Amino acid sequence: MVKISVSILAANFSQEAIDRASSADMIHFDVMDGEFVPKKTIWSDEVAELKTTLIKDVHLMIENPEEYVEEFIDAGAERIAFHVEATDNPEAVIGLIQSKGIKAGITLNPETPIEKIVDFLDSVDFVLIMSVRPGEGGQSFMNESLEKIKMIKKAYPKLEIEIDGGINAETAKLAKEAGVDTLVVGTFIFSGEPKERIRELR
Ligand code: DX5
Ligand code: ZN
Repeated sequence: MVKISVSILAANFSQEAIDRASSADMIHFDVMDGEFVPKKTIWSDEVAELKTTLIKDVHLMIENPEEYVEEFIDAGAERIAFHVEATDNPEAVIGLIQSKGIKAGITLNPETPIEKIVDFLDSVDFVLIMSVRPGEGGQSFMNESLEKIKMIKKAYPKLEIEIDGGINAETAKLAKEAGVDTLVVGTFIFSGEPKERIRELR
């Protein structure tokens, strides 16, 4: 059964949005520093303040994640995905996250070739495939992301694959057929009745 991670960027990171998404599996926190991507959103204090019984699934769209992962772990992150483009030492970031008992994920921009993350797929707990350009919610799904998913599924059948961006009822189906385990969904959830949308995606 596919897991649903609700991105609250689409709902201005409100506690009310989290409460409405309580039938999901995870809450997806899109952290942007205004450097790795132009937009600035939340930081570890908001991740700490926002309450949920679901898994806190943190997506770091920030430069030099190695400097900050610990404060996000202290804020309650149970999974952290960082961008391979944002650090010189992905292996160190993975080790640091896992040393605290937290699941480490690696992610890459749509234009970044899969070769850039292959060396780390034996170490990470999951891989986050971007199906939109990081930095904004509400974008259209990029079909080429499906190729990356199929390649990873073939080479690493046991590795959890999470997809992020432009997911709705139609693209969720394509992602599941390609082998995805976890769907990150923002706009589609909050443009309707969240519980109904979550049921539809499952
Ligand atoms: C984009 C974020 C995504 C985005 C997904 O930078 O990483 O998580 O918020 O939202 P939708 O579902 O609106 O594409
Ligand atoms: Zn995200």
